[in-house]
Amino acid sequence: MLRKQPIGVFDSGYGGLTVLKEIVKKLPQYDYIYLGDNARTPYGNRSFETVYQYTLQSVEKLFSMNCNLVIIACNTASAKALRNIQQVDLQKKYPDKRVLGVIRPTTEIVGKYSKTGHVGVLGTKGTVASNSYPIEIEKFFPEVKVFQEACPMWVPLVENNEYKSDSADYFIKKNLDHLFEKSSEIDTIILGCTHYPLLIEKIKKFIPDSIHLLSQGEIVAESLADYLKRHPEMESRCSKGGVVDFYTSDSEESFNQSATIFFDKEVKAKHIAL
Ligand code: DGL
Repeated sequence: MLRKQPIGVFDSGYGGLTVLKEIVKKLPQYDYIYLGDNARTPYGNRSFETVYQYTLQSVEKLFSMNCNLVIIACNTASAKALRNIQQVDLQKKYPDKRVLGVIRPTTEIVGKYSKTGHVGVLGTKGTVASNSYPIEIEKFFPEVKVFQEACPMWVPLVENNEYKSDSADYFIKKNLDHLFEKSSEIDTIILGCTHYPLLIEKIKKFIPDSIHLLSQGEIVAESLADYLKRHPEMESRCSKGGVVDFYTSDSEESFNQSATIFFDKEVKAKHIAL
C-alpha cells in the first residue's frame, strides 16, 4: 500500500483548527495532519527568532511525517517565520517541499471588499508589529490605507473559554474603539488571528452591519484549492484518503477537550514531541 502523503496544517495551538475546518469542508478528499504546538503557545507576544525556531521545528516535524505541502495556519507564525522558511530553509534543505501561509490569501482579495479604501486589521502584537498585512496589501492594492490594532487579550479570552462572557465585551469594544479612532472610514476588517472567528458575534455587536468582516478560514481554503489546481505536480503528491489526524505537543486530553470549540467536531489527538 502507498504511504499517506497528508497536507500538513500547523498552528501554535488550537486556532488553526478554524482554518482546517474550512479546508476540510472545501477539500474533503485529501489526507491531513494537524499539528498544534500547545506546549509553547501562545506565539503572539514572542520574539521573531523564537517564533521562527518553533515554527521551523514544527514544519520539519510535518515533513518527517511525509507531508509535502504544509499550511502555516497561524498569523503570527506566517508573519514572523514564513518568509525565512520559504527563502532559506526550503531552498537549502527541502527543495521539493512547499510551505504556504494565511496572510497572503486575504491580502490578495481585501481591496475588492473596501469602497472607502480604508481597511482595518486586528491581530496579535506579533502580527501587528511585523507589519506583514500592510506590506502585503500594498503589493496588491497600493491605494488602500491599512489601520492595525493589536488585541492581546482576545486570544486568552478564547483559550480560557471566556469568549462568550460579558467581560469579553469590555476588551472587544476597547480594541474596536481604538481601531476606529485611527480611521472612521474603515469599511472592511480583517480578522488577522485564527482565534477571532470565535468572537465574531461579539465583534458584530460593536460595529455597523455595513462593515465587511473577513475571517480567514474560507479564504485560505479557496486559495488552497486554487493552488492545487495550478500545481498538479504538488497535487499528485497529496494523498486522497479523506483522513484527518491530530497531533499536539502538549497533553492529548486537554487538546481533545478544547479542540471541539474550534473544530466543531470531536477530536482525538496524539502527543508528539517537538
Ligand atoms: N494562532 C495565533 C495567530 O493566528 C494566535 C495564537 C498565538 O498567539 O499563538 O496569530
